[in-house]
Amino acid sequence: MITLGEYIIAQQNEYPKATGELSLLLSSIRLAAKVVNREINTAGLVDIIGVTGLENVQGEVQQKMDLFANNVFKSALEARGEVCGVASEEEEDIIIFDSERSVNSKYVVLMDPLDGSSNIDVNVSIGTIFSVYQRLSPLGEPVVLDDFLQPGIRQVAAGYIIYGSSTMLVYTTGNGVHGFTCDPSLGVFYLSHENIQIPVTGKIYSINEGNYLKFPDGVKKYLKHCQEIEPASNRPYTSRYIGSLVSDFHRNLLKGGIYIYPSTASAPKGKLRLLYECNPMAFLIEQAGGRASDGFNRIMTIEPTELHQRVPFFCGSSEMMDDVEGMMEKYSPQH
Ligand code: AHG
Ligand code: MN
Ligand code: MN
Repeated sequence: MITLGEYIIAQQNEYPKATGELSLLLSSIRLAAKVVNREINTAGLVDIIGVTGLENVQGEVQQKMDLFANNVFKSALEARGEVCGVASEEEEDIIIFDSERSVNSKYVVLMDPLDGSSNIDVNVSIGTIFSVYQRLSPLGEPVVLDDFLQPGIRQVAAGYIIYGSSTMLVYTTGNGVHGFTCDPSLGVFYLSHENIQIPVTGKIYSINEGNYLKFPDGVKKYLKHCQEIEPASNRPYTSRYIGSLVSDFHRNLLKGGIYIYPSTASAPKGKLRLLYECNPMAFLIEQAGGRASDGFNRIMTIEPTELHQRVPFFCGSSEMMDDVEGMMEKYSPQH
Protein backbone atom coordinates (compact mmCIF):
# COMPACT_ATOMS: atom_id res chain seq x y z
CA MET A 1 0.00 0.00 0.00
CA ILE A 2 1.58 3.27 -1.17
CA THR A 3 0.30 6.53 0.24
CA LEU A 4 0.02 9.80 -1.68
CA GLY A 5 2.75 11.32 0.50
CA GLU A 6 5.13 8.44 -0.23
CA TYR A 7 4.35 8.58 -3.92
CA ILE A 8 5.00 12.31 -4.17
CA ILE A 9 8.37 11.91 -2.46
CA ALA A 10 9.30 8.93 -4.67
CA GLN A 11 8.50 10.95 -7.80
CA GLN A 12 10.45 13.92 -6.47
CA ASN A 13 13.50 11.70 -5.90
CA GLU A 14 13.54 10.82 -9.60
CA TYR A 15 14.50 14.42 -10.36
CA PRO A 16 17.85 15.22 -8.77
CA LYS A 17 17.26 18.95 -9.19
CA ALA A 18 13.88 18.92 -7.45
CA THR A 19 13.77 21.22 -4.44
CA GLY A 20 10.76 19.58 -2.79
CA GLU A 21 8.63 22.71 -3.06
CA LEU A 22 6.14 21.13 -5.45
CA SER A 23 5.87 18.16 -3.11
CA LEU A 24 5.02 20.47 -0.22
CA LEU A 25 2.50 22.29 -2.39
CA LEU A 26 0.78 19.01 -3.24
CA SER A 27 0.75 18.11 0.45
CA SER A 28 -1.07 21.36 1.18
CA ILE A 29 -3.69 20.42 -1.41
CA ARG A 30 -4.00 16.97 0.14
CA LEU A 31 -4.61 18.50 3.57
CA ALA A 32 -7.21 20.96 2.28
CA ALA A 33 -8.94 18.13 0.42
CA LYS A 34 -9.33 16.20 3.67
CA VAL A 35 -10.84 19.20 5.45
CA VAL A 36 -13.30 19.91 2.64
CA ASN A 37 -14.14 16.22 2.39
CA ARG A 38 -15.01 16.09 6.08
CA GLU A 39 -17.25 19.12 5.73
CA ILE A 40 -19.04 17.81 2.65
CA ASN A 41 -19.73 14.53 4.40
CA THR A 42 -21.56 16.35 7.16
CA ALA A 43 -23.38 18.78 4.85
CA GLY A 44 -26.70 17.03 5.30
CA LEU A 45 -26.35 17.34 9.09
CA VAL A 46 -25.92 21.09 9.22
CA ASP A 47 -29.58 21.86 9.82
CA ILE A 48 -30.00 19.03 12.32
CA ILE A 49 -26.87 19.89 14.26
CA GLY A 50 -27.65 23.59 13.95
CA VAL A 51 -31.00 23.36 15.71
CA THR A 52 -29.73 21.13 18.48
CA GLY A 53 -26.95 23.66 19.08
CA LEU A 54 -24.12 21.17 19.51
CA GLU A 55 -20.94 22.95 20.43
CA ASN A 56 -18.83 21.79 17.50
CA VAL A 57 -20.78 23.84 15.02
CA GLN A 58 -18.61 26.65 13.70
CA GLY A 59 -20.00 29.58 11.79
CA GLU A 60 -18.05 28.16 8.85
CA VAL A 61 -20.25 25.11 8.56
CA GLN A 62 -23.15 27.22 7.46
CA GLN A 63 -21.19 29.11 4.89
CA LYS A 64 -21.94 28.22 1.36
CA MET A 65 -19.77 25.21 0.70
CA ASP A 66 -17.95 26.78 -2.21
CA LEU A 67 -16.85 29.72 -0.07
CA PHE A 68 -15.84 27.33 2.67
CA ALA A 69 -13.76 25.28 0.22
CA ASN A 70 -12.25 28.47 -1.18
CA ASN A 71 -11.12 29.57 2.27
CA VAL A 72 -9.74 26.16 3.20
CA PHE A 73 -7.66 25.82 0.03
CA LYS A 74 -6.46 29.42 0.25
CA SER A 75 -5.28 29.07 3.84
CA ALA A 76 -3.68 25.69 3.24
CA LEU A 77 -1.76 27.05 0.26
CA GLU A 78 -0.67 30.17 2.11
CA ALA A 79 0.33 28.43 5.33
CA ARG A 80 3.45 26.66 4.13
CA GLY A 81 4.76 29.48 1.96
CA GLU A 82 5.25 27.33 -1.17
CA VAL A 83 2.89 29.48 -3.21
CA CYS A 84 3.15 33.20 -3.98
CA GLY A 85 -0.45 33.68 -5.08
CA VAL A 86 -3.75 32.06 -5.92
CA ALA A 87 -6.57 32.67 -8.38
CA SER A 88 -9.97 31.21 -7.69
CA GLU A 89 -13.38 30.98 -9.30
CA GLU A 90 -14.70 32.53 -6.09
CA GLU A 91 -12.49 35.64 -6.21
CA GLU A 92 -12.63 38.38 -8.78
CA ASP A 93 -8.94 39.26 -8.53
CA ILE A 94 -5.78 37.32 -7.86
CA ILE A 95 -4.81 36.82 -4.23
CA ILE A 96 -1.26 37.89 -3.48
CA PHE A 97 0.53 36.18 -0.61
CA ASP A 98 2.99 38.68 0.78
CA SER A 99 4.85 37.00 3.61
CA GLU A 100 8.63 36.94 3.16
CA ARG A 101 8.57 33.23 2.42
CA SER A 102 5.66 33.49 -0.04
CA VAL A 103 7.14 36.27 -2.16
CA ASN A 104 10.23 34.13 -2.54
CA SER A 105 8.30 31.09 -3.71
CA LYS A 106 7.94 30.23 -7.35
CA TYR A 107 4.48 28.69 -7.76
CA VAL A 108 1.01 30.07 -8.44
CA VAL A 109 -2.16 27.99 -8.13
CA LEU A 110 -5.45 28.48 -9.98
CA MET A 111 -8.47 26.65 -8.66
CA ASP A 112 -12.14 25.89 -8.81
CA PRO A 113 -12.53 25.12 -5.09
CA LEU A 114 -15.97 23.55 -5.42
CA ASP A 115 -17.00 22.29 -8.82
CA GLY A 116 -20.56 21.17 -9.41
CA SER A 117 -21.84 23.16 -6.44
CA SER A 118 -25.46 22.89 -7.58
CA ASN A 119 -25.17 19.19 -6.74
CA ILE A 120 -24.26 19.64 -3.06
CA ASP A 121 -27.81 19.86 -1.78
CA VAL A 122 -28.85 16.70 -3.60
CA ASN A 123 -26.01 14.44 -2.50
CA VAL A 124 -24.39 14.12 -5.90
CA SER A 125 -20.62 13.97 -6.49
CA ILE A 126 -18.73 17.25 -6.59
CA GLY A 127 -15.07 18.17 -6.83
CA THR A 128 -12.14 20.58 -6.60
CA ILE A 129 -9.91 21.40 -9.58
CA PHE A 130 -6.38 22.85 -9.40
CA SER A 131 -3.67 23.98 -11.78
CA VAL A 132 -0.07 24.93 -10.91
CA TYR A 133 2.41 27.15 -12.78
CA GLN A 134 5.80 28.63 -12.10
CA ARG A 135 5.61 32.40 -11.85
CA LEU A 136 7.14 34.57 -14.57
CA SER A 137 7.83 37.61 -12.39
CA PRO A 138 11.05 37.74 -10.35
CA LEU A 139 11.29 36.02 -6.97
CA GLY A 140 11.10 38.39 -4.04
CA GLU A 141 8.42 40.59 -5.58
CA PRO A 142 4.67 40.28 -5.18
CA VAL A 143 3.09 38.09 -7.82
CA VAL A 144 1.24 39.83 -10.70
CA LEU A 145 -1.74 39.02 -12.93
CA ASP A 146 0.47 37.96 -15.87
CA ASP A 147 1.86 35.13 -13.75
CA PHE A 148 -1.61 33.60 -13.92
CA LEU A 149 -2.33 34.28 -17.59
CA GLN A 150 -0.13 31.53 -19.00
CA PRO A 151 -1.14 28.95 -21.60
CA GLY A 152 -1.93 25.48 -20.27
CA ILE A 153 1.16 23.92 -21.83
CA ARG A 154 3.18 25.67 -19.12
CA GLN A 155 1.38 23.89 -16.26
CA VAL A 156 3.73 22.03 -13.95
CA ALA A 157 0.96 20.13 -12.19
CA ALA A 158 -2.81 19.79 -12.31
CA GLY A 159 -5.45 17.63 -10.75
CA TYR A 160 -8.75 17.28 -9.04
CA ILE A 161 -10.36 15.85 -5.97
CA ILE A 162 -13.66 14.04 -6.45
CA TYR A 163 -15.91 13.83 -3.40
CA GLY A 164 -17.94 10.86 -4.58
CA SER A 165 -18.94 7.39 -3.46
CA SER A 166 -15.35 7.47 -2.31
CA THR A 167 -13.04 10.47 -2.25
CA MET A 168 -10.17 10.45 -4.71
CA LEU A 169 -7.32 12.76 -5.59
CA VAL A 170 -6.10 12.48 -9.18
CA TYR A 171 -3.10 14.47 -10.40
CA THR A 172 -0.36 14.81 -12.94
CA THR A 173 3.02 16.51 -12.90
CA GLY A 174 3.56 15.68 -16.56
CA ASN A 175 4.60 12.13 -15.80
CA GLY A 176 1.32 10.24 -16.21
CA VAL A 177 -1.94 10.53 -14.31
CA HIS A 178 -2.22 8.90 -10.92
CA GLY A 179 -5.25 8.40 -8.69
CA PHE A 180 -5.40 7.98 -4.92
CA THR A 181 -8.41 6.85 -2.92
CA CYS A 182 -9.02 8.12 0.60
CA ASP A 183 -9.47 5.63 3.42
CA PRO A 184 -12.02 7.58 5.47
CA SER A 185 -11.23 5.84 8.74
CA LEU A 186 -7.54 6.85 8.57
CA GLY A 187 -7.80 9.99 6.43
CA VAL A 188 -5.03 8.61 4.21
CA PHE A 189 -4.94 8.63 0.40
CA TYR A 190 -3.68 5.33 -1.04
CA LEU A 191 -2.47 4.78 -4.59
CA SER A 192 -5.36 3.02 -6.32
CA HIS A 193 -5.02 4.00 -10.00
CA GLU A 194 -1.43 4.29 -11.23
CA ASN A 195 -0.78 5.65 -14.70
CA ILE A 196 -4.39 6.00 -15.85
CA GLN A 197 -4.91 5.75 -19.61
CA ILE A 198 -8.18 6.73 -21.24
CA PRO A 199 -9.41 4.18 -23.81
CA VAL A 200 -8.93 5.45 -27.38
CA THR A 201 -12.67 5.28 -27.88
CA GLY A 202 -15.68 4.81 -25.63
CA LYS A 203 -19.43 4.52 -25.47
CA ILE A 204 -20.29 7.55 -23.34
CA TYR A 205 -21.11 11.10 -24.40
CA SER A 206 -21.69 13.82 -21.83
CA ILE A 207 -23.38 17.10 -22.69
CA ASN A 208 -26.25 19.21 -21.41
CA GLU A 209 -28.66 18.26 -24.16
CA GLY A 210 -31.28 20.71 -22.92
CA ASN A 211 -29.33 23.33 -24.87
CA TYR A 212 -29.55 21.30 -28.09
CA LEU A 213 -31.32 23.93 -30.18
CA LYS A 214 -28.61 26.46 -29.32
CA PHE A 215 -25.66 24.20 -30.26
CA PRO A 216 -23.45 24.72 -33.32
CA ASP A 217 -24.42 22.48 -36.28
CA GLY A 218 -21.20 20.46 -35.89
CA VAL A 219 -22.22 19.44 -32.35
CA LYS A 220 -25.80 18.67 -33.42
CA LYS A 221 -24.48 16.39 -36.18
CA TYR A 222 -22.13 14.66 -33.74
CA LEU A 223 -24.96 14.02 -31.28
CA LYS A 224 -27.03 12.42 -34.04
CA HIS A 225 -23.96 10.32 -34.90
CA CYS A 226 -23.78 9.18 -31.23
CA GLN A 227 -27.44 8.14 -31.39
CA GLU A 228 -27.33 6.26 -34.70
CA ILE A 229 -27.70 2.50 -34.58
CA GLU A 230 -24.54 0.83 -35.82
CA PRO A 231 -23.49 -2.14 -33.68
CA ALA A 232 -20.10 -2.44 -35.43
CA SER A 233 -19.05 0.88 -33.87
CA ASN A 234 -20.89 0.31 -30.59
CA ARG A 235 -23.56 2.87 -31.40
CA PRO A 236 -25.87 4.13 -30.12
CA TYR A 237 -23.60 5.44 -27.38
CA THR A 238 -24.81 6.03 -23.84
CA SER A 239 -25.64 9.52 -22.59
CA ARG A 240 -24.34 10.34 -19.08
CA TYR A 241 -24.34 13.87 -17.64
CA ILE A 242 -23.94 14.60 -13.95
CA GLY A 243 -23.49 18.36 -14.15
CA SER A 244 -20.25 18.32 -12.14
CA LEU A 245 -17.37 18.58 -14.59
CA VAL A 246 -15.07 16.67 -12.24
CA SER A 247 -17.46 13.73 -11.98
CA ASP A 248 -18.29 13.60 -15.69
CA PHE A 249 -14.59 13.88 -16.51
CA HIS A 250 -13.55 11.22 -14.01
CA ARG A 251 -16.05 8.66 -15.30
CA ASN A 252 -15.09 9.28 -18.92
CA LEU A 253 -11.38 9.12 -18.07
CA LEU A 254 -11.77 5.66 -16.60
CA LYS A 255 -14.34 4.25 -19.01
CA GLY A 256 -13.66 6.13 -22.25
CA GLY A 257 -15.99 8.78 -23.59
CA ILE A 258 -16.37 12.40 -24.55
CA TYR A 259 -17.40 15.51 -22.61
CA ILE A 260 -18.67 18.55 -24.49
CA TYR A 261 -19.63 22.01 -23.24
CA PRO A 262 -19.84 23.86 -26.54
CA SER A 263 -20.55 27.44 -27.42
CA THR A 264 -24.27 28.15 -27.58
CA ALA A 265 -26.26 30.85 -29.30
CA SER A 266 -26.64 32.66 -25.97
CA ALA A 267 -23.11 31.94 -24.67
CA PRO A 268 -20.75 32.09 -27.66
CA LYS A 269 -17.72 31.32 -25.48
CA GLY A 270 -19.36 28.42 -23.70
CA LYS A 271 -19.62 28.24 -19.93
CA LEU A 272 -16.51 26.62 -18.55
CA ARG A 273 -13.47 28.61 -17.46
CA LEU A 274 -10.21 28.20 -19.34
CA LEU A 275 -7.76 28.69 -16.49
CA TYR A 276 -9.10 26.64 -13.62
CA GLU A 277 -11.51 24.20 -15.27
CA CYS A 278 -10.42 23.45 -18.85
CA ASN A 279 -6.61 23.74 -18.73
CA PRO A 280 -6.12 21.38 -15.78
CA MET A 281 -8.53 18.85 -17.28
CA ALA A 282 -6.76 19.21 -20.65
CA PHE A 283 -3.37 18.51 -19.04
CA LEU A 284 -4.78 15.42 -17.33
CA ILE A 285 -6.55 14.05 -20.40
CA GLU A 286 -3.48 14.51 -22.60
CA GLN A 287 -1.30 12.82 -20.01
CA ALA A 288 -3.81 9.95 -20.06
CA GLY A 289 -3.62 9.66 -23.87
CA GLY A 290 -6.77 11.64 -24.76
CA ARG A 291 -7.30 15.12 -26.18
CA ALA A 292 -8.96 18.44 -25.31
CA SER A 293 -9.87 21.30 -27.63
CA ASP A 294 -12.32 24.15 -28.13
CA GLY A 295 -13.66 22.21 -31.12
CA PHE A 296 -10.79 23.41 -33.32
CA ASN A 297 -7.72 24.35 -31.29
CA ARG A 298 -5.83 22.51 -28.56
CA ILE A 299 -7.00 23.96 -25.23
CA MET A 300 -3.51 24.14 -23.74
CA THR A 301 -2.13 26.41 -26.48
CA ILE A 302 -4.78 29.11 -26.08
CA GLU A 303 -3.19 32.37 -24.86
CA PRO A 304 -5.32 33.59 -21.94
CA THR A 305 -6.28 37.25 -21.78
CA GLU A 306 -8.54 37.28 -18.71
CA LEU A 307 -8.57 35.46 -15.39
CA HIS A 308 -12.14 34.23 -15.68
CA GLN A 309 -12.13 33.66 -19.43
CA ARG A 310 -14.60 31.11 -20.78
CA VAL A 311 -13.97 28.66 -23.61
CA PRO A 312 -15.96 25.96 -25.44
CA PHE A 313 -14.68 22.62 -24.18
CA PHE A 314 -14.42 19.25 -25.92
CA CYS A 315 -12.46 16.57 -24.12
CA GLY A 316 -12.09 12.81 -24.12
CA SER A 317 -11.06 9.69 -25.99
CA SER A 318 -8.92 10.54 -29.00
CA GLU A 319 -11.02 8.79 -31.67
CA MET A 320 -14.22 10.42 -30.42
CA MET A 321 -12.44 13.80 -30.46
CA ASP A 322 -11.41 13.16 -34.07
CA ASP A 323 -15.05 12.51 -35.00
CA VAL A 324 -16.51 15.58 -33.31
CA GLU A 325 -13.75 17.90 -34.56
CA GLY A 326 -14.27 16.60 -38.08
CA MET A 327 -17.93 17.51 -37.84
CA MET A 328 -17.16 20.95 -36.37
CA GLU A 329 -14.81 21.62 -39.27
CA LYS A 330 -17.40 20.48 -41.82
CA TYR A 331 -20.61 21.98 -40.43
CA SER A 332 -19.49 24.87 -38.19
CA PRO A 333 -16.17 26.06 -39.64
CA GLN A 334 -14.54 28.79 -37.60
CA HIS A 335 -14.11 31.32 -40.43
P1 AHG B 1 -19.24 25.34 -10.71
O1 AHG B 1 -20.08 24.55 -9.77
O2 AHG B 1 -17.80 25.39 -10.32
O3 AHG B 1 -19.80 26.69 -11.04
O4 AHG B 1 -19.16 24.54 -12.11
C1 AHG B 1 -20.34 24.07 -12.72
C2 AHG B 1 -19.97 23.71 -14.13
C3 AHG B 1 -19.42 22.31 -14.32
O5 AHG B 1 -19.05 21.63 -13.20
C4 AHG B 1 -20.54 21.57 -14.99
O6 AHG B 1 -20.02 20.63 -15.87
C5 AHG B 1 -21.31 22.64 -15.66
O7 AHG B 1 -21.14 23.79 -14.91
C6 AHG B 1 -22.77 22.31 -15.75
O8 AHG B 1 -23.42 23.33 -16.40
P2 AHG B 1 -24.94 23.20 -16.89
O9 AHG B 1 -25.78 23.16 -15.67
O10 AHG B 1 -25.15 24.40 -17.75
O11 AHG B 1 -25.02 21.92 -17.70
MN1 MN C 1 -16.74 24.45 -11.91
MN1 MN D 1 -16.97 26.19 -8.55
